[in-house]
Amino acid sequence: MDHFHYVNGVYHAEDVALDALAAQVGTPFYCYSTATLTRHYKVFSGHFSDMDAKICFAVKANSNLGVLNTLSKLGCGADVVSEGEIRLAMAAGIKPSDIVFSGVGKTASEMAYALDHNIFQFNVESEPELELLNDVALSKNTKARIAVRVNPDVDPRTHAKISTGQKESKFGIAMPNALPVYRYASSLRGIDVQGVSVHIGSQLTNLEPFAQAFARVRAFVGELRAEGCTIKTLDLGGGLGIPYGQEEPPMPDVYAEIAKREMKDLGCTLMFEPGRVLVGNAGILVSRVVYVKKSTNRLFVIVDAAMNDLIRPTLYGAYHDIVPVIAPSGNASTELVDVVGPVCETGDIFAEQRLLKVPAAGDLMVFRSAGAYGAVMSGTYNARPLIAEVMVNGGKSAIVRPRQTYEDLVGRDVIPQWD
Ligand code: LLP
Repeated sequence: MDHFHYVNGVYHAEDVALDALAAQVGTPFYCYSTATLTRHYKVFSGHFSDMDAKICFAVKANSNLGVLNTLSKLGCGADVVSEGEIRLAMAAGIKPSDIVFSGVGKTASEMAYALDHNIFQFNVESEPELELLNDVALSKNTKARIAVRVNPDVDPRTHAKISTGQKESKFGIAMPNALPVYRYASSLRGIDVQGVSVHIGSQLTNLEPFAQAFARVRAFVGELRAEGCTIKTLDLGGGLGIPYGQEEPPMPDVYAEIAKREMKDLGCTLMFEPGRVLVGNAGILVSRVVYVKKSTNRLFVIVDAAMNDLIRPTLYGAYHDIVPVIAPSGNASTELVDVVGPVCETGDIFAEQRLLKVPAAGDLMVFRSAGAYGAVMSGTYNARPLIAEVMVNGGKSAIVRPRQTYEDLVGRDVIPQWD
């Protein structure tokens, strides 16, 4: 459920009319709903309120400080994958003791930064990483609390580019090889082994792969404990899918049931790293139609947002629902259209052959479900400034990232003075 809806024929974000907001901030822009974000966090975390659980939002999904601060105030922690994300999480008010550091390529300086701030846990993804982390910790006379990210070799049945838990993937340590890594880790003076972590992929619309992976982790915890290894935390990652169109993804309560069924009696702190399920449907992208262009066999709706602003359709063939800000009259004609951006690539396409009421130049269109992996994946290709991000809360709105200026865009580079 989200708080984007029509009021008297005008699409609103909570109580804010989007035509008025567009007139105020210009287009294109991202718009996030505080009520939706809050609701999603409360629903997700509520399923674990009867146990020792830590919800660490996957900052990579949306790293806007306004969003992070909203989650932080609700008690949410952060799952980060870079020093930049640690800095953003802390700047938003998230305590280092609620930060878990994932990722296959942590550098020594990132480890040092995380150790200096005493984050809760490193999820270690390889032996070389373990050795480097040990060295960095010893150089600081401290210990790094770790979980090893195991790769359970489970097919998450999602898009290949966002599947992470199969043996062909670069993530984690294959389960059969993980036991010796735990033995080795336990022997290192700079390492404090505290848990196991797993994350098998993103936008999972079927719960079966989670159940399989969690069962494998459970069995593995048994093996570790039999060896005398202390396991206090179980990080079950993120990955729960959301509805983008008509699909019916699993409900968080059923997901929570499966996690609890497998893990509750192990006496560990359960950790989760949800990203998309918290922010995906809490954000939209608002864009204006620049032209409607007829070609021999296509009708192109050319909007002012492009693949550099929202790359998911181009990169994954992802579907985003498209709705007009002003509800069209019942007798407006419906046609198959291609909704495209102005970038000079044929792949700059939001929707191909989508049945829509044909808009006119100047009309506002909304790409729904753009709160996760939207703004964070944007760039300035074609020298297009990064777009504004706005948050609404009831009837109020706030620009949480101003649109990048042309001065900033042009001023980034330095012309070398060779002579
Ligand atoms: N934890 C780890 C270690 C991850 O790699 C990810 C996502 C998450 C948690 C959060 O997963 P979520 O709950 O959001 O599914 N750009 C792609 C998605 C990439 C996901 C990367 N890892 C997209 O737009 O679909």
